[in-house]
Amino acid sequence: MNTKLLAPSILAGDFSKLGEEIKIVEEAGADIIHLDVMDGRYVPNITIGVPVIKSLRKVTQLPFDAHLMIVEPERYVDDFIQAGVNMLSFHLDATIHAHRLVEHIKSKGVKAGIALNPSNPVNTLEEIIYFIDYVLIMSVNPGFSGQKFIPEVLNKIPKLKKLMEETGRTDVLIEIDGGINQDNIAQISKMGIDIFVAGSSIYRASDKKQAVKTLKEKMNQLLV
Ligand code: DX5
Ligand code: ZN
Repeated sequence: MNTKLLAPSILAGDFSKLGEEIKIVEEAGADIIHLDVMDGRYVPNITIGVPVIKSLRKVTQLPFDAHLMIVEPERYVDDFIQAGVNMLSFHLDATIHAHRLVEHIKSKGVKAGIALNPSNPVNTLEEIIYFIDYVLIMSVNPGFSGQKFIPEVLNKIPKLKKLMEETGRTDVLIEIDGGINQDNIAQISKMGIDIFVAGSSIYRASDKKQAVKTLKEKMNQLLV
């Protein structure tokens, strides 16, 4: 894909005014809104769920990318889809029948993604790659915003690209999530990432709009 997309994660925003937090990044040029759903079981944190997403759906037309960090995501995907999400990713080890779930998500007209924790190897995608729309590579351990980027996860990118070539799925999008900031985004972008999630580097910046603009500029800047 030629167009790279920036997906601010509202997890780092002020939860007392999430609607405004979305409008700020939308006005600054955000492409997607990344919604981190945590259940306190798959990860040690609890965040937002269906009613919040349903309310937020009213404030923007931007696509919603829900990152489900919950066990048994199959129990809730229909509710999230009804709430208006456009992309849904879940973790392979959170469910038993990943293929069934991917097919179900796609049958509802929603993009289906698989999220990999830092410790999950790319080869776990070997069979499911034929069916998915995107891979979400976690570059921190899921659970919290504001963690430090783990550079070793970048070793997965060439492996994933190779798998995509071998399986004829070069159309699968690659999303990276965790610890993305103004200092590392250009270098990472060069490796061929399509979607960048950024939480604290936007919402904890003194000027959030400027942070969005700078990240987008750097994400699109091809290094020599
Ligand atoms: C972590 C979440 C991330 C997080 C990113 O579990 O999946 O989306 O919000 O936040 P930063 O960019 O601050 O690492
Ligand atoms: Zn996320």
